[in-house]
Order: sequence, then C-alpha cells, then structure tokens
Amino acid sequence: MTSTHCGKEAELARPIIIDTDPGIDDAVALLLAFASPEFDIKGVTVVSGNVALEHTVRNTLQVCELADRRDVPVYPGCTRPMLRDPVYGLFSGQGGLGKTELPPPTMTVRETHAVDYLVAALTDAARAGEPVTLCTLGPLTNVALALAHTPRIRDGIESIVMMAGAFRELGNRSISAEFNILVDPHAAHIVFEAGIPIVMLPLDVTHQAMATPARIDAIRAVGNPVTDVVADILTFWDRKDSKRFGGRGGPLHDPLVLDYLLAPEHYGSDEARVWVEHSSELLMGHTVADFWGKTGEKPNAKVVLKVDADAFFELLGRRLAKYARG
Ligand code: RIB
Ligand code: CA
Repeated sequence: MTSTHCGKEAELARPIIIDTDPGIDDAVALLLAFASPEFDIKGVTVVSGNVALEHTVRNTLQVCELADRRDVPVYPGCTRPMLRDPVYGLFSGQGGLGKTELPPPTMTVRETHAVDYLVAALTDAARAGEPVTLCTLGPLTNVALALAHTPRIRDGIESIVMMAGAFRELGNRSISAEFNILVDPHAAHIVFEAGIPIVMLPLDVTHQAMATPARIDAIRAVGNPVTDVVADILTFWDRKDSKRFGGRGGPLHDPLVLDYLLAPEHYGSDEARVWVEHSSELLMGHTVADFWGKTGEKPNAKVVLKVDADAFFELLGRRLAKYARG
C-alpha cells in the first residue's frame, strides 16, 4: 500500500511522530497508523523496551516494509534506560514478533539518532507554529533525553498521547508498575513534570481491549498479507489467563493510542495530577493519580479509563482491510 497525501487530505492530516519498541502490540499500532491517512507521519523513533534495540529497530523496519511504507523515516534511539538496568517484555517472544519471521529488512535506519531527530524536528515544528502530536508506545527514554537536551522543544509538541501507567490495574511487569514506566521511571518522571499536555492510556483502559480468539478470527478473515501477520502475532500474544483477564486473548495496548486520535468518541477520560514513583524499590515505576484535587495541584494529564472495545476492533479491522491483497 502506498500512502498518497494529496491536496485537502495532506493539509488536514495530523502531524505525528511515533516512538515505539516493537513488540507485538506496537507492530499492530504501526500498521493501524500506516493505514490511516488522517496522520502525517513525520517519523518513527525506536527505543529499547520489549526487546533490545537491535530487535526493536529490525522489527520496525520489517513492519514498515510489510505495510509498503518505505517512505517513513526510522531513527534508532536509546539502547537502555537512563539509570536502571534494562528490563525486557515477556510476551512478544525472543525477537519481539512472536514466532513470526518477516523478510529481512532492505530499508535502513537513518543515520540521525532518535534523540537528535526529536530535538531537530520538534524545534522546527515550534518555529513553524505547527506542533506535532507525539505518540509514545514504549519506555520514555528518547523523549526524556530530548527534553533534557533542549527543553524548548515542548513548544513543538501539541500533546503526548502515551500508552503508559496503571491505576486500579496496579501493574503488569511488576506487581506495582506498568512496563513502559517501570523500564525507565526516571524518564517518565521527566516527561510528566515537563508541563506538556499528556493523554495517558493506562492498563485500566488497555485491559478492556482484549484480542480474543473471535476478534483474531475476524482479522484473519480479512485475508491480506498484513492481516495474516496480525492474526499470527496476536495468536502468540494470547495470555491464556482467564483468571487475570476474564477470558482468552491478550490486551491490545498500543493501537489504542492511535485509535484515540482517530476516534476519540470511543473513549472516556478524567483529568488528574499524575506522579511517577522513581525512588522506592518496592513501588518503582508506580503511577499515582489525584483525580479529586486533594493535593491542590493542577492536573497534568488526561487519563483515559474507558474504551468501546468493539468499536475499536471494528475500526482496526476496517483499516487493516485497506492493505493490498497478496
Ligand atoms: O505495558 C504494556 C506496554 O509495554 C506496551 O507498550 C507493550 O508494547 C510494552 O511496551
Ligand atoms: Ca510498546
């Protein structure tokens, strides 16, 4: 599929940069973004997260080529969190895309490091008065370091829409923290304290979007090479943990970030002041929210807590169906 942004569509398209650590759910998020002309994808920055950076970069390039989007510039980012030792994901498999082997990528990453790209692109966006929406799907290391490098890039960010954190769902990679925050809590702290508008999609909402066997079958029934891969990797993603999730399937975290931008009517949210715990070993990466104004502190995030999962999967299926048949 080739993207042609022409005329009106190009003018109206929302400029976005996606920061990602593919990762099975990241791959589905990228494929949703690539199939959505509402987005003017300025670039994709890659971070170490679900798997090491060499794999997250390779997976990103392979997904770009699967989507026939060799036009999207991909920038390699940080190989590790700012301070803590790396912690990797448990559910995307050794290489990060389950058991699925995509053809070795022929496109290459850009020479520019992701942090340098973010500084340059967001500085230009601020200067042009055309702020970019930052969609973060992994640990916030690249974004935090870009803010530490040049704080005024915040003027080039319309908002950060992030899959991150947990409240009533407590945690996943630890009993008290969600993975993207746990991997680099110091980076997350910098981002949450930067005064940038944040839309946060925590486990509380992503656990409502379960890629059940029935939903995977509906995706596979579309019958193009992209939906074949998506159905395969989501089958691998199945937690098979009905006690935890109330049924079969895996929570489809990252694509909700893009769906939120495409169809905000699918979601319900509350404003809150959110903090990130970055010193207690027991609660490292825990996200704490004041939804009720008890602390007197101004909210720093819109926290998304509800999703119409059927509507999301319906939109996802329609968008994936736009890819060419083999
Ligand atoms: O906790 C879920 C998040 O961690 C998702 O972004 C998943 O891809 C992993 O990065
Ligand atoms: Ca991710």
